[in-house]
Amino acid sequence: MTVGFGLIGCGMIANFHARAVADIRGASVVACYDTVPSAADRLAATLGCTAYYGLDTMLADPRIDVVTICTPSGAHMEPAVSAAAAGKHVIVEKPLEVTLSRCDRIIAACARAGVVLSTIFPSRFHESSRLIKNAIDQGRFGRLTIGDAYVKWYRTQQYYDSGAWRGTWKLDGGGALMNQAIHSVDLLLWLMGPVQDLSARTATLAHQRIEVEDVATATLRFANGALGVIEATTAAYPGALKRIEIHGTEGSAVLREEDIITWDFAKKTRADAALLTRMAGKTQTGGGAADPAAIGHHGHTAQFKDVLNAIRHGKKPLIDGPEGRRSVETVLAIYKAAQSGRSVSLPPS
Ligand SMILES: NC(=O)c1ccc[n+]([C@@H]2O[C@H](COP(=O)([O-])OP(=O)(O)OC[C@H]3O[C@@H](n4cnc5c(N)ncnc54)[C@H](O)[C@@H]3O)[C@@H](O)[C@H]2O)c1
Repeated sequence: MTVGFGLIGCGMIANFHARAVADIRGASVVACYDTVPSAADRLAATLGCTAYYGLDTMLADPRIDVVTICTPSGAHMEPAVSAAAAGKHVIVEKPLEVTLSRCDRIIAACARAGVVLSTIFPSRFHESSRLIKNAIDQGRFGRLTIGDAYVKWYRTQQYYDSGAWRGTWKLDGGGALMNQAIHSVDLLLWLMGPVQDLSARTATLAHQRIEVEDVATATLRFANGALGVIEATTAAYPGALKRIEIHGTEGSAVLREEDIITWDFAKKTRADAALLTRMAGKTQTGGGAADPAAIGHHGHTAQFKDVLNAIRHGKKPLIDGPEGRRSVETVLAIYKAAQSGRSVSLPPS
């Protein structure tokens, strides 16, 4: 039986969702919806699916089993809650939403309806990320001591001018951190565990007409006692591939986009050298460092497969609602620390 997908919001990332679904046997995009009818028409014509101009009419389509939410970040909640109430499984683009109460309303609506909810974080499905996670779970790093995320990207002024929602608190929810670096925040939390407290600074240095930060730095103490930093910017021309660095008393690994460029342990295995050679040239795109569309869709494909597996077997997907909420909580704590000039503990009281 074919699983029917409905795409909500037909802009840039919806095209990647369509490519990801096309790569999955037994799944197809049957409909799409946008508040701008021409956007829905354009995507529907490309995909050969039905275009809808109203959310309720789309959700009444019985061919749709799963919706993916590709609207601006602060407009994820309304369609997600309606879709859950209509009995559709819900995949939401990152960030899950821009406030914790809006995240919670999505999570509650999906739990109430008994549908699967997943937040998109494709990097977690990359082989390189999973190898590092497995090595941590096996204790190969010894005691984790320091974990860092560096996202030194570049976005032009035209990027921010290309959509009225970009760079606004209400619909983007933040700047370089909430929109771009949140992939790395999610990955760092997955690998290092939750943050206990943090301090931070943010600034808007290179872009006009935006309300939010284009540079951010945070120093972290994780619940396991390790320290770390997050550096995020959209103001570092020409934009570098993002990096995650994990260090412990018995090992170090450095991830540059999908490449593992350091993989060094006190207790070496025979497979280590071959792994480093194999994983050094994995990145096939610009990683979104300078051009938001210079990304692959293979992470989305893997995540959609994980969601279909969860639906089929009544299991939780790897990144469910509460997992998607964690990075939003951390980013909001960074904003609070930067605004107040004080360190902030998590979870917020
Ligand atoms: N995973 C990734 O790598 C990745 C990359 C880019 C964007 N995103 C996320 O995807 C989302 C969309 O980003 P984008 O770059 O595609 O934006 P976009 O501006 O290109 O597209 C958004 C579309 O949503 C439509 N829209 C707005 N409000 C709507 C509503 N209430 N109902 C239905 N349609 C509505 C707009 O008309 C537009 O066509 C954001 O949350 C963003 O953070 C994720």
